[in-house]
Amino acid sequence: MKVPFGDMKLHYQTYKTQIDTAVHRVLESGHYILGSELEKFEADFEKWLGAGYAAGCASGTEAIYLALAAAGVTTGDEVIVVAHTAVPTISAISMTGAKPVFVDIDPNTCLMDVDLVEVKITPKTKAIVPVHLYGQMVDMDPLLKIAAKHNLMLLEDCAQSTGATYKGAVAGTMGDYGAFSFYPSKNLGAFGDGGGISTNKRENFDQLVKLRNYGQSKRYYHDIVGINSRLDEMQAAILGAQLPFVHQWNERRREIAKRYNEGLKGIVQTPVEEEGRKHVYHLYVIQSDHRDELQEYLIEKGVGTLIHYPNPAHLQKAYGFLGYKPGALPQTEKVVKRILSLPMHPGVTDEQVDIVIDAIGNFYSELKSSKSSSKMTASSIS
Ligand SMILES: Cc1ncc(COP(=O)(O)O)c(C=O)c1O
Repeated sequence: MKVPFGDMKLHYQTYKTQIDTAVHRVLESGHYILGSELEKFEADFEKWLGAGYAAGCASGTEAIYLALAAAGVTTGDEVIVVAHTAVPTISAISMTGAKPVFVDIDPNTCLMDVDLVEVKITPKTKAIVPVHLYGQMVDMDPLLKIAAKHNLMLLEDCAQSTGATYKGAVAGTMGDYGAFSFYPSKNLGAFGDGGGISTNKRENFDQLVKLRNYGQSKRYYHDIVGINSRLDEMQAAILGAQLPFVHQWNERRREIAKRYNEGLKGIVQTPVEEEGRKHVYHLYVIQSDHRDELQEYLIEKGVGTLIHYPNPAHLQKAYGFLGYKPGALPQTEKVVKRILSLPMHPGVTDEQVDIVIDAIGNFYSELKSSKSSSKMTASSIS
């Protein structure tokens, strides 16, 4: 039996009735941009989050851009962020003209090491972007204190953490803004691109809805310089149809993670769930000193894996102009050589989890026996 990394087709087949109903309703309506479906999804999503306001937009990348732009982040400013993230976090910062300033991570959680943030603050710093990577929130309490002390905007990158919590607070409700991606494979995914921004302040929301629609206050009246970044009616309807299932899907992700954790205990380094945080396992990421060989072995056994992410942002060609050299972020650079994401989505069965666990166990047994036989060969030669 093969275990694919993801299975969007299975997802569609499982929720075909809900998705088809939503799509047909929009097709029949004759209204495809900025209509009642978006309004309803925004109202439902802000209630679901417990945030004051939520605005749809075209992608997670633009959600980050729009939030930074709404807060006035612009050319010459600095934004503190990790390099261990999906590069779009950094693209969005660059879109404002601001400079990303990288901090290292905690190698166990793979999240921003908040103890390293304050020393990076300069008179040019305008914002901090904690990335709730893999489905777990960053340690928010110390960051909130730092942001308040230095009067900095705090934007949570929630692209991978829809439904995650920190001491009971939901991702996207603790900072000034939260940015969500509705890329199809996310914990809440569209059937195309989509994004959303949460905020607790009405004036922020008003600014966001202008910015995403060419800066218009009303048709053909442009108050500010904006862009086109709208969540279309089709995607809004599809997201609205799926929102009631997200808690149930996140619970299934947590069950799968628990099964992996138990089966892989003592074999590889499994993900850490910090006390007081609810991890929603957008990704289930193990760490191994033999990552590349393990990945090859799993491919041979029909198990799909990915690496999130193999090349950190500060060492990407595109960001060479920032001047970071290898060694600048030691924990990030160590972790990217060890991480491996295993199949994780609500449709993964217990049987599939067990196949993956067995395959990893077999890899390590074979590795051990090949090491001891090569030792024996070496000693018989000597
Ligand atoms: C952490 C993180 N931030 C931002 C993004 C960008 O989202 P999108 O692909 O919807 O633009 C992603 C998507 O991969 C992500 O994982």
